[in-house]
Amino acid sequence: MKLIFLGPPGAGKGTLAVRVKELLNAPHISTGAIFRDAIAAGTPLGLKVNAIIESGKLVDDETTIALVKERLAQADAQDGYILDGFPRTIAQAEALAAFSPVDTVVNFDIPDAGVIERLSGRRVCRKCGFNWHKTFNPPKRENICDKCGGEVYTREDDKPEAIAKRLEVYREQTAPLIDFYRKKGRLIDIDASPMVDQILESFKEKFPPQKRA
Ligand code: AP5
Ligand code: MG
Repeated sequence: MKLIFLGPPGAGKGTLAVRVKELLNAPHISTGAIFRDAIAAGTPLGLKVNAIIESGKLVDDETTIALVKERLAQADAQDGYILDGFPRTIAQAEALAAFSPVDTVVNFDIPDAGVIERLSGRRVCRKCGFNWHKTFNPPKRENICDKCGGEVYTREDDKPEAIAKRLEVYREQTAPLIDFYRKKGRLIDIDASPMVDQILESFKEKFPPQKRA
């Protein structure tokens, strides 16, 4: 199944994707994570996108589309995938339709106050990328990841100014995708406000086993 997780920053797309990928046995492909890995490795892509991401703006369509096209051509993505954070503009959605049409778009519905609470408390593992939260899901030892022992830090774009910018960019450039996919009959809404176990249950109800191939 080819799925898109669409929603504002901090809606919980990455957190749910980690649970759903096991259910679907499909790779979780996050453009944000690919960019952060490139930044950590100091590659030319990382150097190009670092300041853009820290400011909360979008990386240009050409770079992002080329990256996703290459990633979706890999063997593990041929039978399905969860695309998290792509597409984020109409141009990206149109490009994707040409090289890998998706089956369903899951729209994470959550008010701004929920987003701000989640992003301002998020702590990320530098080594495995797991998303912790200082209140909702803290690691047992402060700043150390329970899963891999890596250092847990606050993303540069989770500082208040960048959060505000990301919400503005979401409203202007990404939210129009909701109508874009609804008109195509591809959109499923999910209430992203409850805790993650409950959201996973709603997901399972909307995607019973016979629909998960
Ligand atoms: P990206 O990494 O995709 O950031 P984002 O979309 O802003 O989304 P987040 O990762 O911040 O949120 P999320 O929805 O995954 O929430 P999470 O599960 O972590 O992109 C980063 C940047 O890269 C962009 O700003 C842009 O510059 C660039 N970029 C990426 N894709 C691009 C594209 N296609 N085009 C152009 N540029 C692109 O959860 C958040 C927190 O809440 C965590 O702490 C978590 O523990 C907690 N939490 C999650 N769910 C729950 C829950 N149900 N209950 C309680 N707490 C929860
Ligand atoms: Mg994410």
